[in-house]
Amino acid sequence: MPVITFANTKGGAGKTTAVLLLATELARLGFRVSVLDADPQHWITRWYENSEDALGRRLNVVPYVTMSTIDRQLAEEKNRADFVLIDLPGSRSSLLAKAVGHADYVLIPVQGSAMDAQGGANVIELLQYLEDKADIRIRHSVVLTRVNSMVTTRAMNAVKDLLAARRVHLLETPIIERSAFRDIFGCGGTLYSMDAKRVSNLDKAQENARALAIEVLRQIPAAVAPAASRLKDVA
Ligand SMILES: Nc1ncnc2c1ncn2[C@@H]1O[C@H](COP(=O)(O)OP(=O)(O)O)[C@@H](O)[C@H]1O
Ligand SMILES: [Mg+2]
Repeated sequence: MPVITFANTKGGAGKTTAVLLLATELARLGFRVSVLDADPQHWITRWYENSEDALGRRLNVVPYVTMSTIDRQLAEEKNRADFVLIDLPGSRSSLLAKAVGHADYVLIPVQGSAMDAQGGANVIELLQYLEDKADIRIRHSVVLTRVNSMVTTRAMNAVKDLLAARRVHLLETPIIERSAFRDIFGCGGTLYSMDAKRVSNLDKAQENARALAIEVLRQIPAAVAPAASRLKDVA
């Protein structure tokens, strides 16, 4: 079943947050989801250990994924999940190359500023290299992260122009800067088990995660994601 790899060689780009939002939302839509946690900070694993009551059985997290274990772990999870998501460290590594090479779709989280685009550009170069040298074409998109809900900044427009000039696909749905997306790692659970009285704009955060999941599902070709056709029932 399809593998979605989240990659940006810069730490702090919003990869782990994006993985968590997409994983929980896909599970909520009824899909079986496995997350391979290859981030040495183990945020997803820690969050998962803290969250089991809220998650049910549709979401599984595989901890301690490394260069020497990823092939086996990926093969196992592909067999049992509708979607496998891979969270990577923020560095250039052979693990990154492998996780990108195994992907059906690569999501590149980029914060809306020019400096942050460089880590995303490294991933795009790798994808280009795979296409030129090995004729491996992997669909990919940039998703803007930590976007201010109130203003469109000049820096963000510059990133959008740059991506358009290079013909890199950009998701229409950005991940907005929301306290809910930060707090969820501390308190565990999902956006639906959090207390709306204590978390500001929780409804908007939920809406954002849902729009992201639906847009990502539309990017994945039906041939690799037969399960995504079930989206018609939920959208
Ligand atoms: N959309 C968001 N809203 C609020 N905080 C965010 C958002 N995205 C990321 N963060 C915060 O930014 C920091 C880095 O994000 P993270 O997802 O860990 O990035 P990465 O995995 O690429 O290193 C974390 O403290 C996280 O809580
Ligand atoms: Mg991370």
